[in-house]
Amino acid sequence: MTEQARKTAEGLTYLSGFGNEHSSEAVPGALPLGRNSPQRAPLGLYAEQLSGSAFTEPRAHNRRSWLYRIRPSAAHPRFVRADNGSLRTAPFSEAEPDPNRLRWGPLPEPPEGTDFLAGLWTLGGNGDAAQRSGMAVHLYAANAAMRDRVFSDADGELLIVPEHGGLLLRTEFGLLRAEPGHVALIPRGVRFRVEPLEEYARGYVCENYGAPFRLPDLGPIGANGLANARDFLAPTAAYEDEDRPVEVVNKFCGNLWKATYDHSPLDVVAWHGNHVPYVYDLRRFNVLGSISYDHPDPSIFTVLTSPSDTPGLAGVDFVVFAPRWLVGEDTFRPPYFHRNVMSEYMGLIEGAYDAKTGGEGGFVPGGGSLHNMMSAHGPDQETFDKASAAELRPQKIDDGLAFMFETRWPVVPTAQALAGSHLQADYDSVWQGLERHFRA
Ligand SMILES: [Fe+2]
Repeated sequence: MTEQARKTAEGLTYLSGFGNEHSSEAVPGALPLGRNSPQRAPLGLYAEQLSGSAFTEPRAHNRRSWLYRIRPSAAHPRFVRADNGSLRTAPFSEAEPDPNRLRWGPLPEPPEGTDFLAGLWTLGGNGDAAQRSGMAVHLYAANAAMRDRVFSDADGELLIVPEHGGLLLRTEFGLLRAEPGHVALIPRGVRFRVEPLEEYARGYVCENYGAPFRLPDLGPIGANGLANARDFLAPTAAYEDEDRPVEVVNKFCGNLWKATYDHSPLDVVAWHGNHVPYVYDLRRFNVLGSISYDHPDPSIFTVLTSPSDTPGLAGVDFVVFAPRWLVGEDTFRPPYFHRNVMSEYMGLIEGAYDAKTGGEGGFVPGGGSLHNMMSAHGPDQETFDKASAAELRPQKIDDGLAFMFETRWPVVPTAQALAGSHLQADYDSVWQGLERHFRA
């Protein structure tokens, strides 16, 4: 099965550009011309609009797509409650907000037959999904394909960050391939199912309840740089014409609900619009930094931002620490010690991170750390000693790919996150041994 999925994934074609008004048809002539909702849509299809923003939001932020499908989404029986499994949703109140620095190892392998949806496991989050503010941090571990069920999330968009094993994402808009080092974005409300491209797939998900992720403004950086719009890839239309029972699982205000359609709802033959899924290769990120001294704040590494009503204050930023050169003179080059009003969840896709030594029980791929509002953190003792004594030649950091979900509110852990065997009890010890060097 994974071999078939891999073959499919390797042959995909995409549409390039972020936020574009894309259009695509899997059958020539399926897209109506000159209007969205003709009296009779071409080829006997149903026209359906999917809105990702209020109708009246400013044009620059307005998000919607028109779908031309074999049957309208409305043709379904009543949704009934389904078990939430290990998914949790804001507001998070299972545990007290914790000022401690927390770190986890990777999730244990799930039981055989666990698909992406069943394998979603919530670490924590903030805000309130019903108020459309805040975010959640999830991890996933899957070893089976979603065959007869699809998932959609009314609570927010899903930024999927594969860490081990690629994913084939079959969405209403077409197919996407997301390998470790890529991120995939499933917009709010879009139905999709997931097939692992290897026996075992693992990664992270940021569920963003707030404003859809967009590219950050560049200010004095200019017209280019950071994540370039053309590197975001949307799918081309592809549809399933299958009359068989398919369970649609809908996450709504924190609970899972399910209804069984008598056909595959991935039956969109053509579409146009800007509320679309996409993938982005993090290695395409144009990393900017200092060429004199010090290094900029990590906001310089922002790939995507979900803005709030306060300019510059994000509900959540997605930030990547990609391979880059360090050339700062008379500069402590790893990330500095700091306390931040924003809260930081960090994960590692591959290799090591330059502020932490890796290895068993450390900051490792598939694991993560949480530094909540005003918690003191920075390089560990070994990194500090090494970087303070290093000869400052130009240095390439090229052995790791780390990322951060940085959010305006503290991330409140779930009960399972605090009880899990992969929570590292001795994380504070990485800052032990930072001795005094002061001499008056
Ligand atoms: Fe930090």
